[in-house]
Amino acid sequence: MINQIKEILVTREELKNNAKELGKRISSDYEGKELVLIGVLKGGVVFFADLIREITIPIDVDFISVSSYGNSTKSSGVVRIIKDIDIDITNKHVLIVEDLVDTGLTLHYLKSMFEARGPKDVKICTALDKPSRRKVDLEIDYKGITIPDKFVVGYGLDYAEKYRNLPDVCVLDSSVYTDKEDMD
Ligand code: XMP
Ligand code: MG
Repeated sequence: MINQIKEILVTREELKNNAKELGKRISSDYEGKELVLIGVLKGGVVFFADLIREITIPIDVDFISVSSYGNSTKSSGVVRIIKDIDIDITNKHVLIVEDLVDTGLTLHYLKSMFEARGPKDVKICTALDKPSRRKVDLEIDYKGITIPDKFVVGYGLDYAEKYRNLPDVCVLDSSVYTDKEDMD
């Protein structure tokens, strides 16, 4: 697996510091408030686990699992909910936790969906940001590390469900890619 890595883009140390800084800001901004953190499966899990352990205030956690429709309809920004959250978010502060914001369509959709359920507010936290490919205007309240327009794996991110367990954010050697449909 290691020899399929072309480049390490973000090291595990940088990722750890990133989670630490964001966790600190979140702990201070939401002091005394009822906060629900919603992790986006599957890619967001590694960052989610890092982030919540840097948060020093009481929080509730939940998860949502989504998948985007095929490429032809992707620009509509409609995502399919595979698993919804279990917690009632009415009158709570909601923070959606993502691995990576790319076009912004997924989070744009999820934010409106949660806002319709009567929370106090809905904010967004992402470990990584790829702003060059943005298709919608999306306010990111807690933004981690900005990366260039390269397909990345590791730290929860996959290529065809593999490489999620790599501790660093990496770019794979182009010989790995046999089916571009999986680069999503
Ligand atoms: P949006 O809707 O912002 O979607 O385009 C973001 C989601 O798309 C996936 N994505 C990637 N996954 N390497 C991956 O493994 C990448 O370089 C990449 N770019 C986007 C990812 O699931 C993210 O949450
Ligand atoms: Mg994702």
